[in-house]
Amino acid sequence: MSFDRSIKIAPSILAADFANFGAECTAVEAQGADWIHVDVMDGHFVPNITFGPATCAAIRPHIKGIMDVHLMIAPVDPYIDAFAQSGADILTAHIEAGPHIHRTLQAIHGAGMKAGIALNPGTPASAVQEVLDLTDLICVMTVNPGFGGQSFIDMTAKIRTLRDMIGDRPTHIEIDGGVDPTTAPLVSKAGADVLVAGSAVFRGGSVTNPTPYGENITAIRTAAQGVWV
Ligand code: DX5
Ligand code: ZN
Repeated sequence: MSFDRSIKIAPSILAADFANFGAECTAVEAQGADWIHVDVMDGHFVPNITFGPATCAAIRPHIKGIMDVHLMIAPVDPYIDAFAQSGADILTAHIEAGPHIHRTLQAIHGAGMKAGIALNPGTPASAVQEVLDLTDLICVMTVNPGFGGQSFIDMTAKIRTLRDMIGDRPTHIEIDGGVDPTTAPLVSKAGADVLVAGSAVFRGGSVTNPTPYGENITAIRTAAQGVWV
């Protein structure tokens, strides 16, 4: 199967109703979400706590497509098998979470998942140079991780550098933080293909009124595709 570099919208359930994750995932997929982005925070690597592998496992049956799990935890390696068992398709670890990203990528692949690396705004593109062949996705953070609803930090130069470094490799570039119809074209033009959006997708809607989710997804996708060639 050829590599899909088209624009994919990945709503972050960090902005969903925490008491209703299953129905939220069903609703947002029905409204056009391509992937579901799941933010795991430990109160140590980032200053906020969300949930762990048990919640991911509970959500999994409510997701038809890709479950994209973004780990904002340190350490990562002791929990890789638990997230594999939870049904994650893609498991992304922060390069800043420990000294052994190569080992972490090997372990994620060994557990049967696609492997992603996330880069904080202060981390340069060059940090992933030696492990590009082991990386299925690079998540460029456009906020400092920990909270939804923050303002977009312009990382377009880093995205362009990564796009050049990746070349023909089947590696996604995902953008996470402050993505909305205004910022989406900037990152898609720079070479991103997966756009995570929390507040910009879930605002104005609910499981009983999901139409705004679809309108919001379409607005982001249309804006991103406007400059996508
Ligand atoms: C931030 C998380 C993001 C966040 C995005 O730490 O990794 O996925 O939920 O939220 P918005 O789209 O509201 O910036
Ligand atoms: Zn995230």
